[in-house]
This record gives sequence, structure tokens and C-alpha cells, in this order.
Amino acid sequence: MTYAAITGIGIYLPERILTNDDLSRMVDTDDEWIVSRTGIRERRLAGPDEATSTMAAAAGAAAIADAGLSATDIDFLVVGTGSPDHIMPSTAALTQDLLGLRCGAVDVMAACTSFIAALQHGTSLIEAGRAARVLVIGADALTRHVDFSDRRTCVLFGDGAGAVILEASDEAGVLGIDLGADGSGAGVLSIPAGGSAAPCTAGRVEAGEHYLKMSGGEVFKFAVRIIPETTRRALESSGLTVEDLAWLVPHQANQRILDAVTPRLGIDPDRVFSNVELLGNTSAASIPLALHDLYTDHHLHCGDVVALVGFGAGLTWGAAVVRWTKGPNE
Ligand code: ACO
Repeated sequence: MTYAAITGIGIYLPERILTNDDLSRMVDTDDEWIVSRTGIRERRLAGPDEATSTMAAAAGAAAIADAGLSATDIDFLVVGTGSPDHIMPSTAALTQDLLGLRCGAVDVMAACTSFIAALQHGTSLIEAGRAARVLVIGADALTRHVDFSDRRTCVLFGDGAGAVILEASDEAGVLGIDLGADGSGAGVLSIPAGGSAAPCTAGRVEAGEHYLKMSGGEVFKFAVRIIPETTRRALESSGLTVEDLAWLVPHQANQRILDAVTPRLGIDPDRVFSNVELLGNTSAASIPLALHDLYTDHHLHCGDVVALVGFGAGLTWGAAVVRWTKGPNE
């Protein structure tokens, strides 16, 4: 059988840092509230000349270089995002051009689950023999959709991009994936205006319907329930258990969610990776950004089994169990 294995990883973070103190000058909030409720201290903001595609391309270029490949080696590009540059053309097409790839390119949109969904897409192409080298990117600029006068949401999000190269291999890299969706929860987290159901009009913009809306408590309860469930299903389909995991790399939405999930999954808290403190919730980018931190900090070793798990608007969720075949960061 042909498997998909991660052979390269790269990220991009915008330069501008927005701290909790910066936010406390914009809305009625403070560092103590934000840290105690979310664990977030600062986040990055895309610059005026940046968009999801430019961040995706920068992360993609870094992943291609890390795998020792060049742009023309890539057979397919999948960009997972919840904040595309435009409704059309796709962010993947723009990214393909920026990178000089000569291959097909497609967006996968599953909000904060987009990276796991994109990884499944790339893995399936390789396992089916339709591609040998796929660039999989998770990128988001959700701060472009956040109302910076709404303290309930503006403290949570940040921008960034992370990418991996998947290559065909005899060695099993991606072991199992679980993906799910429940559209009956669409109202829990959404950007109501700007699509075909509610095109942006002056009235809708005046009512702020083009901004992200969230029932925070509902998302919290959903996340705490679904992370253990989907992680266990992905482990089961890989023939493994929680005890086999070197690391759980969850979507970085909120430290309190991660703390609540840890005992429910029965995993040692030291094996649950978090960098939410410095990046906030970067949506589709958060899992590859976290995986990259683990890799560059020398915490990943050849043979380690890692569970990547995401959840988000839709509602959507998903987990991928991956054996790290790339070896340690040199
Ligand atoms: N600063 C100060 N006070 C605040 C702030 C703030 N930034 N935000 C809310 N408050 C206030 C509220 O107005 C409310 O005050 P009130 O009682 O006077 O009305 C009070 O704090 C409590 O509000 P809650 O919403 O009940 O606060 P909660 O403890 O639930 O924390 C939070 C809110 C942090 C959003 C939490 O619900 C949460 O983390 N939910 C998950 C959110 C999430 O992860 N979303 C993204 C996941 S999916 C994706 O990644 C796209």
C-alpha cells in the first residue's frame, strides 16, 4: 500500500503583535480577564498588504524548502481556510500563482477544522495514486472578520499560516483520520453576511452582520465533548489508543478548553501541546503552527505518534493520527 507521510513543514506569522494591553485600550477588557478565561496574552495581525493567500504562500514556500523540494515538484495544492481572500477566485489558485506551482489547487473550507480536512484530501490523493507530493496548507486571517468593538470575540483570534508536504511512502505516516459535521449547529459560530444566503448590503454592514458571531459557551461545551470523541475514533481507525500518543496537538482555541479536555481524554497534560498564549486562535493555521513549534523545539522524534485534532464552525470536527517519519529537527 502507498501511504502519505509528512516530509516538510513550514509556517508564516505576520510581524504585528497585538497584546492584551493593546486590546484593553480598544474595548472594555483587561489582561487578567483575557488570560484567566482564554490563556491568550498576544496574537499576530496580518499587515495591510497581507491576506490569507500571501501568508499561505509564505508557509508553503518554507515547507517546500524544508522537504528539499522545489515548486515544480508539487503535484497538488490544498488550502484549508475559513477566511479566503475572495469568494472567487479560490485562495488556493492565488497561492498556486504566488508559489509558481504547476499543478491543480483547491480550497477546503471547514472553518477551524480546515487543516484536518485538507490533510484528509491530500492523504486520499496520495493513497489513491493520483498524486505523489501534495502541499497542504492551513491559513487564516480571521481578524479581518472580527468586530474590534466586540470584547466577546476580538480578544480570541489571530492570523497566520502553516503548511506540510505530504509525500507518497511505503512507510505509514498518516495512519487514520476521522472527520465529522453537524450543520444543525450552524448558528453557534458564523459570519452571517457576505455569502449567497445574505449578500453584503449597506444595511447588513450597518447591522454588523459581516462580522464573526459566536455563542462562546456553546462552542466551549461542543469542543470539550467533541475533541475526545473524534480523537478516540481516529486512534481506533489507526489501531492505537491514547497511551500510544507522544503528543496531542489540538486546535488552539482556548487554554481552558484544552485543560478541560485533558482529563476527559485521559492524557498526561504534559503531552498536550499549547502555544495559544502567544498566537491566540489562528483557526485553520493553529494545528500546523503548533506542530511546527513542537518540531523546531526538538520535541518530535522519528516514530512518535501524534494526534492532530480540530473543531470549529459548521459545526465541524476532525482528528488525524500521524506517525512522525521525518526525524528530529536538525
Ligand atoms: N473582557 C471582559 N469581560 C468580558 C470579555 C472580555 N474580553 N468578554 C466577555 N466578557 C464578559 C461578558 O460580557 C459577561 O459579562 P456580563 O455577565 O456582565 O454580561 C461575562 O464576561 C461572562 O461572559 P461569558 O461569555 O459567559 O464568558 P465565558 O466565561 O463563557 O468566556 C469565552 C467567554 C472566553 C469566549 C468562552 O466562552 C470560550 O472560550 N468559548 C469558546 C470560544 C472559542 O473557542 N471559539 C472559537 C472556537 S472555533 C474556532 O476556532 C473558529
